Amino acid sequence: MTADQDKAEALTYALKQFVNVCDEAEALVGHKPLCATEVDYEELVQSMLPQTIDPQSVQGTGLKQLQHLVEGCKKCRLSETRTHTVFGEGVIPARLMVIGEGPGAEEDASGRAFVGKAGKYLDSWLGAISMSRETNVYIANIVKCRPPENRNPEGDEVAACLPYLKRQIQLVKPQIILLVGAVACHALLQTPDGVGKLRGRFFRYEGIPVVATYHPAGVLRNEELKRPVWEDLKKVAAYLATPLNGRS
Ligand code: URA
Repeated sequence: MTADQDKAEALTYALKQFVNVCDEAEALVGHKPLCATEVDYEELVQSMLPQTIDPQSVQGTGLKQLQHLVEGCKKCRLSETRTHTVFGEGVIPARLMVIGEGPGAEEDASGRAFVGKAGKYLDSWLGAISMSRETNVYIANIVKCRPPENRNPEGDEVAACLPYLKRQIQLVKPQIILLVGAVACHALLQTPDGVGKLRGRFFRYEGIPVVATYHPAGVLRNEELKRPVWEDLKKVAAYLATPLNGRS
């Protein structure tokens, strides 16, 4: 007999005893009994027992447990070539959550998100709106393992990894999300549109406002993108500065 069957049997016995006691009490005060014989105890007990939890499921995990699942993840081929998983980092609950594409070489080597050239540039963007990963921002990526040669993650790799990010967002509880780059926009907003078309307005993900902008690596390659990024950052800052939009 398994532990679950043991529990079910004990619960059934306790339930029967309980109904019998209730019946006796009802009889004492002259009420009609509960019809104990009509109760389907087995079915009742099954509905009361907690469902068996899949150890690989992200549901109900805390951040540490989630990180542990990511560290052991072998759901896609990116796990075969990674050095480290890159879970994400920052402050919880976050005022702002920045979501990028996936780790590059420096992130893969260190296990930390956005620590290479693009990451340092991203930190300077955050500094320009008086924010940082040390004080009020959480930073993560769509995929937690580096795609070889920094290629874009494939659809099945994104699909395998997305449940981790979705749970991470629930736990980080950001007031607003900034998606940097097309890969992040496509994955979270479920649209094939490019950043040029998506930026400049607010979207919602699970009720959380979302702003899309260019990826810092792209802006490093093309200076003309600096101005639109600055406008998008100001949009985020203005949203957070509006008193009704959340905690200060
Ligand atoms: N680019 C990303 O999208 N994420 C990182 O963590 C680093 C570079």
